[in-house]
Amino acid sequence: MPKESDLTIDAQTIVNQILPHRLPAHESAEAFAPANIALCKYWGKRNEALKLPLTGSLSVSLGQLGTRMRISLDDRDRLSINGTPQLAESNAYKRLFAFLDLFRVSGTAFRVESHNSIPMAAGLASSASAFAATVNTLNQLYGWDLGDSQRSILSRLGSGSASRSICPGFVEWQAGERPDGMDSTAVALESVWPEFRVGILTLSAAEKPVGSSEGMQRTLETSMLFQSWPNQVAKDLPVIREAVLQKDFKSLGPAAEQNAMAMHATMIAAWPPIIYWQPESVATLRRVHGLRADGVEVFATMDAGPNVKLLFEAKTENDLRQAFPDLKVISPFAD
Ligand code: DP6
Repeated sequence: MPKESDLTIDAQTIVNQILPHRLPAHESAEAFAPANIALCKYWGKRNEALKLPLTGSLSVSLGQLGTRMRISLDDRDRLSINGTPQLAESNAYKRLFAFLDLFRVSGTAFRVESHNSIPMAAGLASSASAFAATVNTLNQLYGWDLGDSQRSILSRLGSGSASRSICPGFVEWQAGERPDGMDSTAVALESVWPEFRVGILTLSAAEKPVGSSEGMQRTLETSMLFQSWPNQVAKDLPVIREAVLQKDFKSLGPAAEQNAMAMHATMIAAWPPIIYWQPESVATLRRVHGLRADGVEVFATMDAGPNVKLLFEAKTENDLRQAFPDLKVISPFAD
């Protein structure tokens, strides 16, 4: 697999290039970023330090579902998530403040209050909305006035998929070619599709056994099937992009489901194998196939966790609510 030879550029260098200054403009600021679900997945990096992807990916942001964050200047660092204070030893605390260290001068301490409207670490991309919300909030706090692509690049340094959570609606993360990743950034697609729906079935909210960073790295290093992944994306990404632009669900659904299944196939063939699926995940996929055989246009996608997300249009919503009483239906284009 191609790996970037130029490993001399680190995240701090990129941040230093982008930030205009490090003097807070306010005592406190608040901002939001949506969660996103990839329709064409990001799986595998060409540069780990900068979280540069091997391929492009494409997602839909989940409207009002995501992370609302407040960051205030304080005398020491503190983090609360959904009102619960987090210990300095917790993973969430360590990961967030390591990220914040990229942006502040020493002596600056933050109180961070984060509110997620999605279950954490259940494959529902909460890290994506958290890092994008962090960058959006810092942008306000410091008065940087950064544009979408700069905020996308900064968010990516926290988590790759966060680069896409900068924009609402359908978003393409262009892989880019530059070693410094300045061209690896999200672009909003000009498509408003009010009938498009994402259904979330939370089958298990337990923490995933292998995080996505580790999972994709292990897949890249040990799975023979991973060799075919860039070709899969090269086939799926143009189809999915065009389907989104044309609002062509008949073409979008199959391409998105096949892309997700192919990603999981690469990781099942890793060693040790990475199997995010639970028995309920497989049962749900079979039900989706059964519904399709009965003429219901519904497709499935899955990320680094056991939950299944359904893709469908408004006209199918009633059928699906009946088939899955616990379905949480999201309208990404609702106000
Ligand atoms: C399966 O963005 O969590 O959800 O860049 O290592 O932080 P890091 O990984 P992350 O990976 C997301 C993987 C995925 C697919 C996707 O969202 O495209």
